This record gives sequence, C-alpha cells and structure tokens, in this order.
Amino acid sequence: MTFQLERTYGLRAENWYRPETNLSQLAQQKFFSSEADNQTQMFLDNSNKIASNFFWQTVRNIGVMILSSVYTKTDINGMTGFGNMFLFSENQFSKFLTIERSSWVSSGKKVLDLGAGNGDITEHMRPFFDDVYATELSPKMRKRLASKGYTVLDALEWANTDVKFDLITAFNLLDRHYSPSKLLQDLWNVSHRSNCHVIVSLVLPVSHYVEFNPNGSSTRPDSYLNVQGRTYADHVHHMIVNVFKAANFEVVRWTRLPYLCEGDMNNSAYYLPDAVFLLKPIAPKSTPAQATPKVSEVPEDPIPVPQAPTATHTEL
Ligand SMILES: C[S@@+](CC[C@H](N)C(=O)[O-])C[C@H]1O[C@@H](n2cnc3c(N)ncnc32)[C@H](O)[C@@H]1O
Repeated sequence: MTFQLERTYGLRAENWYRPETNLSQLAQQKFFSSEADNQTQMFLDNSNKIASNFFWQTVRNIGVMILSSVYTKTDINGMTGFGNMFLFSENQFSKFLTIERSSWVSSGKKVLDLGAGNGDITEHMRPFFDDVYATELSPKMRKRLASKGYTVLDALEWANTDVKFDLITAFNLLDRHYSPSKLLQDLWNVSHRSNCHVIVSLVLPVSHYVEFNPNGSSTRPDSYLNVQGRTYADHVHHMIVNVFKAANFEVVRWTRLPYLCEGDMNNSAYYLPDAVFLLKPIAPKSTPAQATPKVSEVPEDPIPVPQAPTATHTEL
C-alpha cells in the first residue's frame, strides 16, 4: 500500500503515520502505529478524480462564491456535499480499538459522535454499532446527519441525556469548540456514567478556531488548551500530560493519522496531521468540582489571529 501511495502521489506514507520529530518517552510508550490501507488509497483516488474534473470544479467554485455571502463554510459543505473528509477506515478503527471483528457483536451497542460534520468519519464506525448518535451546531450538517439515520442530539444539551453509550467520539472538535474545558468536562461526566471509552482527535500543532459560537461571534474559544512547544511531538506530550490527565482521562494509546480532505482545482487532496487519542475516564483525585481541566484563560492582549481551517491544510 505504501508503494501505491508513493507511486500515485509521490508520498512516503510513513511520514503520514509517524511523527517527524522525537516523541517524549511517555508519548512513545502510548504510541500505536497505524498504516495506510485500501480505503485510504480509494479516498485519494476518488478525490483525485473529482479534483481533475474541470466542469465540476467550475460549478463548485461559482456555487461556493454565491453561497459564501450568506452561509458559513461548514454549512456550504453540508448543503452541497463538497469537502468530504477521511480519517480512518473500518480496519484502522478496529485495530486501534483492538476490536476482533469476527467475534464483535454490534447488537445493542451505541456510539455518540460529537461535532460529526456531514458524518463522513462517523460512517466508518457504523458497522460496529447498532445505534449512532451525533451532535452538530451547523443546521445544514444536522440535516445531513439525520438523513443518514443517525439520532441527532442537541449540541448544547447532549451531556444531559440519560442514554448510556459504548463509545463517545469527538473527531477534530476540541480545537473548534467554543469552550474546550466544558467539552472535556462533559466528556468525562458522560463517559464515566456510561463506563465507556472516549476518542478525541485533533490536528497538531493545536490551532484554535471557533466557527460556531453560541456565546457570540468571536472565533476564539473561552480558554485555550495548555500545550507548549511548536512541533507535533511537543503537542502530543502536552495533550497527554497537561490536557487529558488534568481532565481525569488516562490516555490508553494514541496514533497518528492523515486527516484527508477532498481536493479542488489546485490540489488533488489536502492533508493535515491528526493525533487520535483513546481515553479512559478515571476517578478524580479531588472532588469533580475541583477537577477542572487545565486550560489557559484567554489573554486580554490581542493574540495572533487563529488560522482558518482551510489555511492549515498542507498540500500533498
Ligand atoms: C473540523 S469539523 C470536524 C467534523 C468531523 N468530526 C470530522 O472529523 O471531519 C468540526 C465540526 O464541529 C462542529 N461544531 C463546532 N462546534 C460544535 C459544538 N459545540 N457542538 C457540536 N458541533 C460543533 C462544526 O460545525 C464542524 O462541523
């Protein structure tokens, strides 16, 4: 498979699945190595086909230009079906979770995917669960999720549900959330009550950008994830120690995956380096009220403007 990726895209796939710089000892101990597979290749091939269709790309550009005066980028993707994403295949997912597919029983199992977008990533978990629940703040994305048969919960009230889940996921939401500390606290409460694991993924190095803010129009979150350093490896270490541990989550293991986005006239696909963490809620040492995740308050001085999601895409 590495050969195919190299041949088609001139890529060395191991660069997508391994950090470029040295990991801390702790991050190394928890590292789970993923690798490219057929579904990754199929997504890239399909993306390449769409990107090279001049007629389709022209229609798309004109459509986006008109719609962007009224709608957010996420809403436009929800309406048009543009900007499909790929993070993992069913096989990569089951390996990461050590699911034995031949003996796995999906009957009665429930997964909740927070900030599910158009459900592209969610769809790869569907074979493992009977019921799929999702949340979204984009109204257009909510429609798409409902049309796929998912139960769409209120994005601001989901933590008050009585449903017990077998897995809760938040793919690429933490750095897009208006309140990362609230999200971590809600994740802990519901996963602890459900006695289930949590998967959180995010693009590293961290770059916050809030597109949907129920508290106003700011694109900044109310608090920042407490990560230091500049590299992917630095941020993996600080996510484990400063963010997840402080939020009473043990990192069971983590992996690096390419977060791929369908291409356009300029590139056959786009790639972002994602870190995917499998978390287990642990009993807090102090009382839950004191165990607030460690995040930095938003400074009053102006900070560098966070990059918009598209601007962080790395060309293939
Ligand atoms: C970067 S996209 C990730 C989509 C999908 N999970 C993926 O990995 O491709 C972030 C999504 O989270 C949604 N979102 C942002 N804040 C949210 C919130 N507080 N609750 C639910 N969804 C939210 C956005 O509308 C957007 O679709």
